[in-house]
Amino acid sequence: MSVEFTWYGHAALGLDTDGYKILVDPFLSDNPAADASPENIQADYILLSHGHGDHVGDTVAIAKRTGATVISNFEICSWCGTKGIKAHAQHLGGGHKHPFGYLKLTLALHGSALPDGSNGGNPAGFLLTTNDGKKIYMACDTGLFGDMRLIGEEGIDLAVLPIGDNFTMGPDDALRAVKLLEPKHVVPVHYNTWDLIAQDADKWASQVETETGAQVHVLKPGESFSLD
Ligand code: NI
Ligand code: MN
Repeated sequence: MSVEFTWYGHAALGLDTDGYKILVDPFLSDNPAADASPENIQADYILLSHGHGDHVGDTVAIAKRTGATVISNFEICSWCGTKGIKAHAQHLGGGHKHPFGYLKLTLALHGSALPDGSNGGNPAGFLLTTNDGKKIYMACDTGLFGDMRLIGEEGIDLAVLPIGDNFTMGPDDALRAVKLLEPKHVVPVHYNTWDLIAQDADKWASQVETETGAQVHVLKPGESFSLD
């Protein structure tokens, strides 16, 4: 069994594992960097890290068309209920065994108001343990925090980290995050969508590979790699 990981641009991710298609923060139609369209993307589950528009994106339309279940915090799941879509609420530090694996919501230092001003609760990251035991940590929108070390203690196969700066960690703090997490593989996200978060991901990758044992995968929007 392997996990097929796709970066659709910005913070939109796809995970294909054990026959399940999982989308994370599917911001596609208004995303200048996206390489996917909400009209034909498939999903069984949609993970929403927080309420901001560049993460909620096309969630409602995709969930209505595919019947996918949204997984997020309680406040965002209540909001999904008002839109007529299925949702499974969890909260920070809480894990649940879903058909695709065991998913835990992790701390994230950020905001979470929904685009219409509704309360989006607390922002989160995700730690997924797949059915064959792979650990994938998606930090989502966050600043650096020391408790990443606790997340790293679980033994991370893949860490997905923002490097764009301004709204989230920048390259220097993302390098410190890799040192705390000690993952085997890293994918940088949340950069180059707009000029404000432009970064040189190749330069960051070589610095990470020089200073840590992690292997960095710099993907183009729409590109995948397989975590074996
Ligand atoms: Ni955000
Ligand atoms: Mn964001």
